[in-house]
Parts: sequence; C-alpha cells; structure tokens
Amino acid sequence: MGTWPDGAGVGTQEGPANDRRYASSASKDARGGLEMDDNVGTGGHVPVMLERVLELLAPALTGPAPVVVDANLGLGGHSEALLAAHPALHLIGIDRDPFAIEFSTRRLVPYADRTTLVHASSGDLAEVLDQAGRPLIDGALFDLGVSSPQLDEAGRGFAYSYDAPLDMRMDTSQELTAERVVNTYSAAELTRILRHYGEERFAQRVAGLIIKERAKEAITSTKRLADIVRDAIPAATRRTGGNPAKRTFQALRIEVNAELSALEAALPAALDALTLGGRVVVLSYHSLEDRLTKQALTARTKDTSPPGLPVPLPAHQPRFRLLTRGAELPSDEELARNPRAASARLRAAERIRVDD
Ligand SMILES: C[S@@+](CC[C@H](N)C(=O)[O-])C[C@H]1O[C@@H](n2cnc3c(N)ncnc32)[C@H](O)[C@@H]1O
Repeated sequence: MGTWPDGAGVGTQEGPANDRRYASSASKDARGGLEMDDNVGTGGHVPVMLERVLELLAPALTGPAPVVVDANLGLGGHSEALLAAHPALHLIGIDRDPFAIEFSTRRLVPYADRTTLVHASSGDLAEVLDQAGRPLIDGALFDLGVSSPQLDEAGRGFAYSYDAPLDMRMDTSQELTAERVVNTYSAAELTRILRHYGEERFAQRVAGLIIKERAKEAITSTKRLADIVRDAIPAATRRTGGNPAKRTFQALRIEVNAELSALEAALPAALDALTLGGRVVVLSYHSLEDRLTKQALTARTKDTSPPGLPVPLPAHQPRFRLLTRGAELPSDEELARNPRAASARLRAAERIRVDD
C-alpha cells in the first residue's frame, strides 16, 4: 500500500494537484494502492445509478455559482459527471480513504479550479464546509459504503474471498483495525456488533468461537476469521444464503470505520446546509444505512405542529419534501452491467423552507 505524500492529509486542488512533486509521487505511491496510471484509468468502475443521481440533483444546480458536496468521493465517478454537466459548479469532495483522494485528485485535474477535495470523514462535514468557506450548499450526494478498489485490493482486508491481514480501515492512518476488534473486544461487545451491524442470527455463537479461537492464537487473517465463522454457523444454515462470513465482515467493517455514526452526523449536517431548493441524494447499500437515511429525511418532511391546532404553525411546517417514493432500486439493465449495484437503495429530498 502506498504512502500519502508529505503534508497532503488535506488534498485541496489548490495544493497537491498542481504540485509536480505530488503528481509524480501520486502515480508511484498509488501502484500499491488504487490502480492508477497517467491516463487515470477507473478500473472499469461504474458509478451507481448515475443518470438518476444527475437527474435528481440537476434542478438544484442551475444557479450562477452552485455548490455541491460529494460526501463519498471514492473514484470520483459521480463527481466527474456532475462537474461535466454543470460548468459553473463548485464541488467539495470528501473521502476518508487517502487513496481515494489521491486518485480523484488526478482524475478531476480538468476541473481543478472548481474542486476542493478533502481527506476527512463525512462525520466532520459541517467543519469541512466551514473550512472551505462554503457553509451553504445547493446539493449533496452520499454514495455510502466501500468502493470497488477497497473490496478488490486483497491487502486491505475487506474481502473474505482473499486471504489478507484483518485490516478493513478506510482511513489507513487510524489506529482501530478489524484485527484489534476481533482480538480485544469482549464476547458481549462482539455479539452486539455482529447482531446490530451484521444482522447475524448466530451472533452469540460466532462471538463465542472467536473468543475460544483467539485464546489459542491471535486471529490475524481474513481466511482464519472466515473459517471460524463458517464453523460457528449450523450446517443447515451454511448451505443457504451465500458465504456465512458476509454478515460478520460487514459488521466488522461498519465498526472499524464507525460508518453509522458518521452518517448520523453527516446527513443532518448536509440537510442543514442546503439552501432553498437544494437537494440531497443518498445511495445506501444495506438496511441499516437505508433506515437511518429514511429516518433523517422523513423527520424533516413532516408537519410537527402539536395535534388539534386549528391552523398549522409556520415554524412546524416541513422543511423538506421527498423526491422519491420509498427507496428506488437500480434498473435491470444497470444490474446486468454492474452487479455490484444490486443492493443499492436511492432516496432523495428537496429543501422547501428555510428557518426564519
Ligand atoms: C461507494 S464508494 C463511492 C464511489 C463514488 N461515488 C464514485 O463514483 O467513484 C464509497 C466511498 O466512501 C468513502 N467513505 C465511506 N465512509 C466515509 C466517511 N464516513 N467519510 C468519508 N468517506 C467515506 C469510502 O472510502 C469510499 O471511497
């Protein structure tokens, strides 16, 4: 895995992108990280539900100087399409994975004067906007979860299909790894994580076997963990529903990267920052993300006037309206092209009132 160049923890386009020292070290460093060459290949990555995302955000981005936040920049696929579609748009891209920032910085070079790319957690979205000097935004996009390179690069330890060190950090500078979680959390903590974040029916059994096995020898590889999970799941269940390690790996990934608490902070911050007519689009990939998204959006689209009043109170009127009925799914045609879009659920809303 590559090393993020000195002083480039926050990668604004004013900084490293225009710096030859950065450009050369980026291509060298990325060899061990994201696949990247001078033409900035995208490894076949297809942004999920791209046409629908563009269509939903477009009405909010027609002003003279619109601003959009891409809170999950990844390979910059959605961002590039937004910048191409809206010539006056300024895009603030956030990712906690330094390799994603590095990759997108190069990919978005043609738009360098209209982008601010920041290595941060979306949980710090309000601070990122303040520091970028753009506290108000016209659009926000959340394309949650992991990126294709994070899953495909064996060494990052996200995938049970490769044998690799148990890592799973999106931000490679943070201390907490999956190995630390698996080898130091109590049985009760592991059970809670597996049950809540993995929706694992056999959470207690899996946690119990992890505790037993780690007492013999620390669990340090994805393969050993996947074997332990398989052994903990009853044989009859093992024969159905795909790889039994899937739920445990999802749970650990969510814990290591504090994914749900980041979303709990980021989505309200983005909604609060939206101007009148501003729009948010959220792509979720599992029920926990989708539930949090639904709750955050519906809470703001309801009239909160106390019941029984003769007239609705202006201060309690909804601030947003939903743009989607329930969650939208990718089309069959998209699924045929991009099977990884299978679990995507899209929700969107528009700001229709600002606080007095
Ligand atoms: C599905 S990918 C985004 C792909 C992107 N839309 C594209 O078209 O290339 C999700 C990205 O979100 C990032 N991510 C996940 N949680 C994050 C968080 N709390 N803060 C910032 N980035 C996060 C991951 O590192 C990953 O790069």
